[in-house]
Amino acid sequence: MARSSNDSWDLASSVGTTATMVAAGRAMASAASGALIDDPFAAPLVRAVGVEFFTMMIDGELDLSVFGDASPERAEAMVNGMAVRTRFFDDCALASTAAGARQVVILASGLDSRAYRLPWPDGTRVFELDQPEVISFKTSTLAGLGAQPTATRRAIPIDLRDDWPAALRDNGFDPSARTAWLAEGLLIYLPPEAQDQLFDRITALSAPGSTIATEWAPGIVDLDAEKARAMSAPLRDHGLDIDMPSLVYAGQRTPVMDYLRSIGWQVSGTPRDELLARFALPTPGDAAPDGPLGEIVYVSAELSTGTPPATAR
Ligand SMILES: C[S@@+](CC[C@H](N)C(=O)[O-])C[C@H]1O[C@@H](n2cnc3c(N)ncnc32)[C@H](O)[C@@H]1O
Repeated sequence: MARSSNDSWDLASSVGTTATMVAAGRAMASAASGALIDDPFAAPLVRAVGVEFFTMMIDGELDLSVFGDASPERAEAMVNGMAVRTRFFDDCALASTAAGARQVVILASGLDSRAYRLPWPDGTRVFELDQPEVISFKTSTLAGLGAQPTATRRAIPIDLRDDWPAALRDNGFDPSARTAWLAEGLLIYLPPEAQDQLFDRITALSAPGSTIATEWAPGIVDLDAEKARAMSAPLRDHGLDIDMPSLVYAGQRTPVMDYLRSIGWQVSGTPRDELLARFALPTPGDAAPDGPLGEIVYVSAELSTGTPPATAR
């Protein structure tokens, strides 16, 4: 179903399905030999959501040809891609807290368990924002598993198209203190102007020394919807009700690196293959060509000067 301005979802429908999908990827990456990441909550969370396709995926019972081809190289590329993505955001957040930040804001937190699994310095507060059903499911499922946050966790159920800065402040966020912001796997689900507004709002809430970790998917600009739809057809044949082109906002949008630079951030971008090489993992090359979103660029940014030029819209 096409997106609308006030649509909402749980973890088994619409955009929420993508949160379960990436958590399944983290579960597989955590179980890989010589794993780069260890997310012990990913698999139980995915099982609790109860979408059979993802449960089969993490149990190794899914024929991976549904993702294009069933070659070991293709499967390895998928798992390694999720491993380096997770490590990138883990490392950015921990580097920011090592440099003094004691506020971490995870926008579109989905089934991200960083508030429960990373070794945060004493006094760290982790704010998680996502749709109400997503927040309440993760909170109650992890409580049921006996998981304890490793920081003070503030879960804020809200749509990121609404006034989330006010909700953040109401929950004790301090804009005068430096913050580590994470926006992982979010931007393609926001309309182009909402992406820019998100970063304006972040900037208006950021003290000098604050950091952002996010990513840029170059293929979103000229997304080939028919190709993308054809790629997800086998998933639907296996019972997974997902139609990626209808969940994302394709078309012209400002590359996030350019936008952040224009509003005063010092930005660096690392293409996925460079990240794989950094962790001594093979680059997929022809074994697993990029999907419709192209080669993802992982973006980190720091606000190092005084008053930012942007005003919150
Ligand atoms: C691909 S998932 C990524 C989740 C998490 N960051 C991760 O990497 O595991 C996309 C997430 O964005 C959230 N999201 C997208 N648009 C949103 C909106 N307008 N308001 C709140 N959450 C949103 C979804 O609920 C979902 O959890």
